[in-house]
Amino acid sequence: MPAPASDAFVFFGATGDLAYKQIFPALQALMRRDRLDLPIIGVAKSGWNVDQLKARARDSLQEHGGVDADAFAKLSARLRYIDGDYGDRATYERLRDALGHAARPLHYLAIPPSMFATVVDGLSKGGCATDARVVVEKPFGRDLASAQSLNRTLTGIFPEAAIFRIDHYLGKEPVENLLYFRFANAFLEPIWNGHHVARVQITMAESFGVQGRGRFYEEVGAIRDVVQNHLLQVASLLAMEAPVGHGTDRIRQEKLRVFVAMRPLAVEEVVRGQFHGYRGEKGVALDSQVETFAALRLHIDNGRWAGVPFEIRAGKRLPVTATEVTVELKRPPHAVFDSFRLGESNYFRFRLSPEVLISAGARIKVPGEAMVGEDAELVLHRHPGDEMLPYERLLGDAMHGDATLFAGADAVEAAWRVVDPILGNATPVTAYEPNTWGPAEAERIVAGEGRWHDPTPQGVRDETAG
Ligand code: BG6
Repeated sequence: MPAPASDAFVFFGATGDLAYKQIFPALQALMRRDRLDLPIIGVAKSGWNVDQLKARARDSLQEHGGVDADAFAKLSARLRYIDGDYGDRATYERLRDALGHAARPLHYLAIPPSMFATVVDGLSKGGCATDARVVVEKPFGRDLASAQSLNRTLTGIFPEAAIFRIDHYLGKEPVENLLYFRFANAFLEPIWNGHHVARVQITMAESFGVQGRGRFYEEVGAIRDVVQNHLLQVASLLAMEAPVGHGTDRIRQEKLRVFVAMRPLAVEEVVRGQFHGYRGEKGVALDSQVETFAALRLHIDNGRWAGVPFEIRAGKRLPVTATEVTVELKRPPHAVFDSFRLGESNYFRFRLSPEVLISAGARIKVPGEAMVGEDAELVLHRHPGDEMLPYERLLGDAMHGDATLFAGADAVEAAWRVVDPILGNATPVTAYEPNTWGPAEAERIVAGEGRWHDPTPQGVRDETAG
């Protein structure tokens, strides 16, 4: 039997940045698809009234995707606002009143994690937690110990099945497509293992810097910001076994097995970098050791992936903004005609952003007398991008109790166990110039005779690259 849908949407942090950038656009999109026929209640402590919140919602939409007059009118009509302190019992009494007959509200905590305990306690004491769902945002802690404590706080009030931890990467169309492509095509399974795969590379490159979020970034750095969550999640989707059975948990269970098999990172397999100019950003310490770039080699200790390095790289102020996965196949066992470089020839490439692209690299003979070849790339699929915003997909799923695309407590903790040994200043940070691929030292992360595959701005591989 499908889980009953939530009957009210409550968001804490209604006047904040996350609501502005992600929640209002997602709510409008849900409204447009008629998936949001319920009261929508914003909570914050800004001394505002509901008209100010509506004006803020309009501004947000103007900046993020545009205002759809019809959907916005419906959204506005449903929007309520409660101005109150999160530590004050009266705030939750007013919330309870505003919920009216709603018996299964969804509470979205778009607030700093330091406030989670106060709010979930307030929800519980105010009678707003019974049969409710709660959605929380990353960061889920800043290391294993704090993640465990956060999970204890949440599970002290809500059952695990009612907790939805958002990792917006999991709501992206191309990330879903990755999973689909893997298990819907018979030709992949026989080669998707250490017998045939030489390495897996994941690069998340961003050409911009910290965009005014210096203070936030000082607390996290690239490893906590995107590696522990987004990129390890992508790695788990690439590495997992085919899910079996039914139910929303089956994919999460297989992913969890991969997280558990990931070997905790070793300091000698990590390179951290910081772009020149980062220390001049507002909110950043003059002697900051926080990384804006990280390259690391991950190992998955199971039968399928033993011996296959997963090389992961993420950074700000790199030459392009693109996220790509390359799965390199091993060379044919014997060079019948000409020899060629490992990884340049046979591979699958998944471009996850900005557009969706799936391609396969092959070796083709150059016309002429000699039996020599060249590399060619077959583009299997190319699509301009997401039709559905990740937050629209995820909030819609959470309201229907579908946890497939959310991170479970055990997976989050297992992912922290992987990165815990390299957090903080366990390894030195090396400066790099903006608009480069990070410190030169990152080359040593790539095992054997391989090299990093740099995403190109146009998406297809540059044939002339040496
Ligand atoms: C966020 C990080 O989780 O993901 C940001 O905090 C990063 O630093 C962002 O820029 C990237 O996500 P997307 O969907 O814009 O590629």
